[in-house]
Amino acid sequence: MTLDPTYFRDLYAACADPRGLAGRWYEARKYAVSTALLPRQRYGRAFEPGCSIGVLTAMLAPRCDALLACDAVPDAVSSARARTAGLPGVRVEQRAVPGQWPPGSFDLIVLSELLYYFDDADLGQVLGLGIGSLRPGGQLLAVHWRHPAPDHPRTGDEVHEDLAAHPALARLAGYRDPDFTAEVYARADGDLRSVAQTGGIS
Ligand SMILES: C[S@@+](CC[C@H](N)C(=O)[O-])C[C@H]1O[C@@H](n2cnc3c(N)ncnc32)[C@H](O)[C@@H]1O
Repeated sequence: MTLDPTYFRDLYAACADPRGLAGRWYEARKYAVSTALLPRQRYGRAFEPGCSIGVLTAMLAPRCDALLACDAVPDAVSSARARTAGLPGVRVEQRAVPGQWPPGSFDLIVLSELLYYFDDADLGQVLGLGIGSLRPGGQLLAVHWRHPAPDHPRTGDEVHEDLAAHPALARLAGYRDPDFTAEVYARADGDLRSVAQTGGIS
């Protein structure tokens, strides 16, 4: 079963930053690795579901013309709004995916520490909506913790195995260490050129 929203509401009711996203070197390094993997210097319209308190959102903002971030939990949305106030192009909304997937299409979709909360049906829907709403040349960044998490319906490694096996996706870049995996995918029928090729270097 997909983890119930009350699971996350209880976490934020007990602590404004339950995962220590704003203070830990582990998270700062993971965000730096994840954003460094992104092949493009700038993206047009981006979507980041499950943004929590908006730490990654604030790092993505300077690379995006417009960035829609969302979280299912109102307390997280308030924190993310406060953290990103004044950053041009950022909008934070309360939405739960896949049910409240936003309209429109995106050049970048960021799925960071989110997909392992979903059961098979919801994971399939999130991936279907994500891939379906990528613009031509659009990219999907996925980042997940690799250690056991007994509350989660699946592991981070299983998430990335599903992404790698998805027939509509092609992997552009990736990083893995004992703690997390970060990968960038594009639509398999899209622009699969490397950064050097795109820049006319090779
Ligand atoms: C571990 S935090 C990840 C935060 C952020 N993406 C990052 O990488 O730092 C997971 C967040 O996803 C949110 N979340 C869980 N299920 C969700 C859903 N179905 N739709 C939107 N947000 C969800 C939780 O409330 C929580 O804030």
